[in-house]
Amino acid sequence: MSSALNNPAHPRNVQLTSDGRLKHFLSINGLSKALLTEILDTAESFANMGEQAVKKVPLLRGKTIVNLFFENSTRTRATFELAAKRLSADVLNLDIKTSSTAKGESLMDTLQNIEAMYADMFVVRHADSGAAHFIASQITPKVAIINAGDGRHAHPTQAMLDMFTIRKHKGEFEGLKVAIVGDILHSRVARSQIIALNTLGAAEVRLVAPKTLLPIGIEEMGAKIYTRMEEGIKDVDVVIMLRLQKERMAGALLPSEAEFYRLYGLTTEKLNYAHPEAIVMHPGPINRGVEIESAVADGPKSVILQQVGYGIATRMAVMSMAMSGQMQEKAQIQ
Ligand code: NCD
Repeated sequence: MSSALNNPAHPRNVQLTSDGRLKHFLSINGLSKALLTEILDTAESFANMGEQAVKKVPLLRGKTIVNLFFENSTRTRATFELAAKRLSADVLNLDIKTSSTAKGESLMDTLQNIEAMYADMFVVRHADSGAAHFIASQITPKVAIINAGDGRHAHPTQAMLDMFTIRKHKGEFEGLKVAIVGDILHSRVARSQIIALNTLGAAEVRLVAPKTLLPIGIEEMGAKIYTRMEEGIKDVDVVIMLRLQKERMAGALLPSEAEFYRLYGLTTEKLNYAHPEAIVMHPGPINRGVEIESAVADGPKSVILQQVGYGIATRMAVMSMAMSGQMQEKAQIQ
């Protein structure tokens, strides 16, 4: 389904223009450190907009952005919508589960109908891995596609807002030890974070989980595996907790939630193993008392709510960069 993107033999990444600029944002795979840094720097220029009296810049004025959410979402959809509005785009939100696909229309028919309304960008969330790549390969080259989470595969804007949050607190990635803890098996967020952290030069990426929640071979992405929480988070600068994705668990992968919390839940006591200045992150939604103790989630080391705010700035960066790459390519085709 995904074509050139993961194929090192293929000379070009489908999300880039011929001169290496972003025109879709489908995955962190194959993007350079320079490009990821450009996204972070662009996000930085938008980071204080929320505090301004007029929360708008005209970068995407006259552009139409369609949020296509085939799967539930609260914060990702809301922050994409706000990001588009702060860039002055016109935004259409489509909850596909409750509309035409429920009436039997195929995905391609739905997309072609929206494309016929002269959309410039689709923001896509879908339960199937590869959905955003598929849409990018099938839809006319005039529409920029942003992946807002596809199955277990990728959630690149979440990873970039997480990188933005880490850079804000830690300054640089060199020398950083980061632990990602919990349900790695079902997490598109973890996969995107591992690639982003390695590309940006983090010293160590650790994955901490019971064996049943670790995909086979995940260490080949560039991570060290730990099955004991105390060892896994020892001296780390950043602890990223993940939600137990119960809706994706086909069978019983855990003895019980209480057992999971006892072994892997981030409590004040366990957090003492991390570096004294460690920050605690979580993509949300959080399950209090399942993967994280309330005292930690609401405590001084938690930057969980900051992540949400930075999500707007990061999504503004990705959307404006992809739209500009897309327009440049369009001008060359004409
Ligand atoms: C994540 C997702 O949907 O993949 N959440 C999010 O985008 N804020 C993680 C999750 O659902 O646990």
